Amino acid sequence: MRNDIYAQPQTGTSLDECEFYHTCEIPGIGLVEGQWDLRHGLAQYLGNYDFTNKRVLEIGPASGFLTFHIEKTAREVVAMDLPIDLKLWNFVPYDRLRIGNNPTPQGAEVEKSFRAHIERIRNGFWLCHEKFQSSARVCYSATDELPKELGMFDVAVLGSVLLHTQCPTKVLECCADLCTGSIIITELLDRTLGDAPICRFLPSIENDLWHTWWNFTPQFFTQYLSVLGFTTLTVSTHKQVAFNQEIELFTIVATRPSTMSRMNQK
Ligand SMILES: C[S@@+](CC[C@H](N)C(=O)[O-])C[C@H]1O[C@@H](n2cnc3c(N)ncnc32)[C@H](O)[C@@H]1O
Repeated sequence: MRNDIYAQPQTGTSLDECEFYHTCEIPGIGLVEGQWDLRHGLAQYLGNYDFTNKRVLEIGPASGFLTFHIEKTAREVVAMDLPIDLKLWNFVPYDRLRIGNNPTPQGAEVEKSFRAHIERIRNGFWLCHEKFQSSARVCYSATDELPKELGMFDVAVLGSVLLHTQCPTKVLECCADLCTGSIIITELLDRTLGDAPICRFLPSIENDLWHTWWNFTPQFFTQYLSVLGFTTLTVSTHKQVAFNQEIELFTIVATRPSTMSRMNQK
């Protein structure tokens, strides 16, 4: 297996270079505040999945609260995030802004401050990585082109990431290709969507939302994961604290039959 697909761990990061997506107690530093506080609901956020001895692919770790929790029991965690280049994010291609693609002056400004924010979150990840003495490896790559050299995983975790992807079905297909066992998906629950297998397109010229594409129903994923060959599907809902309020989410744990797992390992 090639090792150069993994990022060199960043060390010596100082707290003032960081931002945190997750509230977290960092060894030797103490409590840092993030937008999301998953400390009391992490097991539900991860569908109560038992990671013991599993090889885990985590898509979109942000500041890594899930990563450092999962690796306490997992055999190995590989975290994937987007490279800090033109593929920094699946920006919604507003003609007026053109973020990430010959941006207008306003788009360039949005992109610059967003890039700085993402870099500070990444610094937060690496600071935690060092302080938790983590051995999780990180690969920066587009998630719809996951390198085959990563090898196969027992489980893939996609926590609050598919809402940010232009083509969530493609990302899921790529994860499924590398995954012999289970896929765990956590997303915001919008009960107004009902229970059909649908997603809602969120950006509009009124709201200028350029970083988020979709809200999904759980049925959107359960139906698609069935198509992808996952036969055991559990859906749970839970509330987490974010932005100083309670937010409702759903988590799906989808598992392949073991014969399918063996076919994919070949
Ligand atoms: C909202 S945070 C979720 C953090 C963490 N997974 C959790 O559940 O708390 C989204 C993460 O997904 C990453 N991300 C955003 N768009 C992505 C994309 N198109 N493909 C892969 N990762 C993406 C971000 O860089 C960030 O690490």
